[in-house]
Amino acid sequence: MNRICYVVAMVAEAQPFIEHYGMKEVKDFFHPLPCMLYEAEVNGKTLNVVLNGRQNGSDLVGCEAASVATLSAIQRLNPDIVINSGTCGAFDCNGAEIAQVFIGNKAMFHDRRVPGDDAWGTQSIGNYSVWEGSAKMAEVLGLKTGKVTTGSSLDMQPCDLEIIKSNGGELKDMEGAAVGFVCSLFNVPIVYVKSVTDLCDSGAETFEEFSKNLKAACESLRIVNEKVIDYLTKME
Ligand code: ADE
Repeated sequence: MNRICYVVAMVAEAQPFIEHYGMKEVKDFFHPLPCMLYEAEVNGKTLNVVLNGRQNGSDLVGCEAASVATLSAIQRLNPDIVINSGTCGAFDCNGAEIAQVFIGNKAMFHDRRVPGDDAWGTQSIGNYSVWEGSAKMAEVLGLKTGKVTTGSSLDMQPCDLEIIKSNGGELKDMEGAAVGFVCSLFNVPIVYVKSVTDLCDSGAETFEEFSKNLKAACESLRIVNEKVIDYLTKME
């Protein structure tokens, strides 16, 4: 595993470990795309962080920006593995806690309601596989695993919840399955590292809960990502 490439949506999610590894920005690498590239050498391996980028003063979140960033990262950098790291909503009823970090074991979409035959229904949900070593890594690092479920909104409508529940979704985000989809096209293994900012079944207003817990979730994310990077860069 010589090159590890993170794909991250928000600066706040990546900044703690960009600073920790003293990563240097490679300016205009993806010009004219908004994506940003950071690079460092860790344990003799190349570590990249690709951020979706910014538009009108805010981070580009969501599936479209994540797909562009992942496609560009894979085509230009040819990584051995992609890591999609960021924050997510999770469920109190599953025992999740604020700032708890999970490793994804699968990724699906929950807001693509396409009626019809099985093939389209299946394609809409996605159900992308993760790197085969994910479960073992989670066990070694003492982390729980969960299914990433992706949609284009921060809030959750009853129809989203229905699809999440009937397909076993646990970690609600806005990019994971899009990154997984692009990785699946290139057969590049993907690891998900997701930290909880809000509990979707807490009854609280999601954006308020997300904003209140963002800093704590990003700090626990940094701590786990350092362990993940250590694990992957020291693997045979
Ligand atoms: N990112 C953090 N919390 C989220 C949520 N509840 N839904 C989607 N993306 C999120």
